[in-house]
Amino acid sequence: MAALITGTGVAVPPNVVTNDALTRIMDTSDEWIVSRTGVRSRRFVDPGTSTSDLGAQAVRSALADAGVDPSEVDAVVCATMTPDRQNPGIAGAVQHKSGLHGAAVFDLRQQCSGFLFGLDLADMLITTERARTVVVVGAEVHAGYLPWGDAWDIVLGRADRSPTDDERALATRHRAWSVLFGDGAGAMVLQTRPDGPGLDFESESGILGSVLRTDGAHADLIEVPGLGSEQRPYADEAQIAAGLHHPTMNGGGLYRLAVETMPAAVREVLKTTGFELDDLGLVVAHQANDRILDGARRRLGVDESIMPSNIGHWGNTTAGTLPILYHELREQGRVAPGTLVAFTSFGAGAHWGAVLYSEPENPGST
Ligand code: ACO
Repeated sequence: MAALITGTGVAVPPNVVTNDALTRIMDTSDEWIVSRTGVRSRRFVDPGTSTSDLGAQAVRSALADAGVDPSEVDAVVCATMTPDRQNPGIAGAVQHKSGLHGAAVFDLRQQCSGFLFGLDLADMLITTERARTVVVVGAEVHAGYLPWGDAWDIVLGRADRSPTDDERALATRHRAWSVLFGDGAGAMVLQTRPDGPGLDFESESGILGSVLRTDGAHADLIEVPGLGSEQRPYADEAQIAAGLHHPTMNGGGLYRLAVETMPAAVREVLKTTGFELDDLGLVVAHQANDRILDGARRRLGVDESIMPSNIGHWGNTTAGTLPILYHELREQGRVAPGTLVAFTSFGAGAHWGAVLYSEPENPGST
């Protein structure tokens, strides 16, 4: 028994924000952002579109791609670090908005590694025969926490004014992390692949193995320090005034850990499943920034044809990056039958790992 990816779908908002557009509200440049991060543009939703809206759109698209009726879905696994509201999580809203009535739902909080942990959870549900069809979705609306206040209209080119000194100072103070992120969602449908005669380990398809790791000692590398049970009260004006609702990021620390842990996890999952690095057709890695991807490629000894990047046009969509990139690669015909794929990510918490997947020789014969 193994879990096969039988459909993928994405949802990205229409508003494109280039690096030049960001220079309207903060001290930055296209050259700085591209050379340090690889991001050239990102997408943002309009106010009123929530994370669960994008997630549900991606789910519907993935179900259509798989040819699966919503009534067949047993479970929905949702990953986000930007929920519609603090409580409840988005999984119920995604379920409701995609018409998956009756499916059990899970909310995961592993940030950039949320989708990877979700893939493994889907595999566990399927291989233990608790479910036959599981949808995993990673969705983010980062727009809500970006420190651009009333200057959003300027960013989107909808206002005929310059930012105030205070708006420019605030956006510039947060420029190191805020230029990285974009909104977007991706989903995958996973279904049971029954054991069949003549299947040996080498020719097996579907999810073949995983390595998941967490080290909570690194939680402060990137975190939102305020608005939580550590505070009394949970939320107040003093926290907002101090900017505790915005992320703080140790960029160098994140870089060092991400370039070390993702290649190590890929090597470990290959070793435990009996494969070699040369067997890999694709490494679908979290799109945090191109510098991290370059470092991870060097450590793993693979080039961009094996470990591709799409951060240039989406930015870092956190839990959305793995399914969005995989969907694009499928659309480009880069996931040929028999391709061995390593999904890998590193995310705030810190959580990281790798999931090894083999595209079936004949996807229609599940
Ligand atoms: N535009 C212009 N200048 C900037 C910007 C910006 N957007 N952001 C920071 N700077 C300035 C800083 O103020 C600083 O100026 P100073 O020397 O006068 O003080 C200078 O650039 C250097 O700042 P550093 O933070 O040292 O910049 P660095 O070269 O390390 O690059 C970066 C920052 C790109 C964030 C880098 O540390 C990095 O790639 N880290 C990885 C973090 C990451 O990718 N996080 C993604 C989210 S987490 C995840 O997905 C797991």
